[in-house]
Amino acid sequence: MSSKMKVIQSIEEMVALTKSDLWSGTIGFVPTMGALHRGHISLAEYARKECDIVVMSIYLNPTQFGPNEDLDNYPKTLKADLDKAEKAGVDYVFTPTSKMMYPDGFKSWVNVEGITDILCGAKRPNHFRGVTTIVSKLMNIVSPDLMYMGEKDYQQIAVLNTMISDLNFRTVIRPCPIIRESDNLAMSSRNAYLNEDERIRARVLYQSLQKARTLYKQGTADPEILRKSMQELIQLHAGKIDYIEFVDRNTLDKKETADDNTRVIIAVFIGSTRLIDNMDLV
Ligand code: PAJ
Repeated sequence: MSSKMKVIQSIEEMVALTKSDLWSGTIGFVPTMGALHRGHISLAEYARKECDIVVMSIYLNPTQFGPNEDLDNYPKTLKADLDKAEKAGVDYVFTPTSKMMYPDGFKSWVNVEGITDILCGAKRPNHFRGVTTIVSKLMNIVSPDLMYMGEKDYQQIAVLNTMISDLNFRTVIRPCPIIRESDNLAMSSRNAYLNEDERIRARVLYQSLQKARTLYKQGTADPEILRKSMQELIQLHAGKIDYIEFVDRNTLDKKETADDNTRVIIAVFIGSTRLIDNMDLV
């Protein structure tokens, strides 16, 4: 499609569109919470290359935030987001409200077990329940063939792939690479919370992942030794480690010994801002 981007504000309108003659070919979907940066835009660009119709949702989903998390302070930049989406070639932007998504009497939740109890799930209770529930709803409303998601949120993709397989959703996830700033900090809406000093110290996330990768390539396969060297570097830059885990890149099972299928996944507080990042060891 090439005509002007359209903003769809209601579920009814979105569903009607999916049943109309306009809905033909491969449908690509990019779910987001807004505050769009180049990471989000890269997903829309991949979708544009592969799909006939590209839909993006912008919806700040309250149910995936904990009570002490940043829902109220989360950056909201809808007008700029719409400009960026249009430039990236998005055909439709879906912008529902919480009244629509969680009306009075809402009682149904999608819960994936096990894989949601580790890593970020262990630190953010109910976070993934919020993600799996909203993404199920969005997939039912938009009916996409392909859903473009960033490896920045590596566990999110693994959890959603489990849900898609277990519950027979017919959407396929296209995992897309992490987009980084010029100093390699992974792009994130939360980077906006960092002050000047914290922004520099935040480089240590990527540096610590690189360090683990270098040590692994030099022959160190013991996760404890790799973790220690990362810890030292992160603490040197006054980062507070939430977790550092070495997991199988497909199952997210913890590794006793690192190998070529190992992914290192980290969450670190820089000041009061929690940042995540991850990398394969090869
Ligand atoms: P949000 O954090 O807005 O991210 C939307 C998508 O952008 C996710 O797939 C995320 O992995 C991807 N993304 C974010 N930063 C990226 C980067 N630096 N490089 C590549 N991709 C990046 O993830 C969510 O929203 C929500 O949980 C959502 C799936 C929309 C459900 O509410």
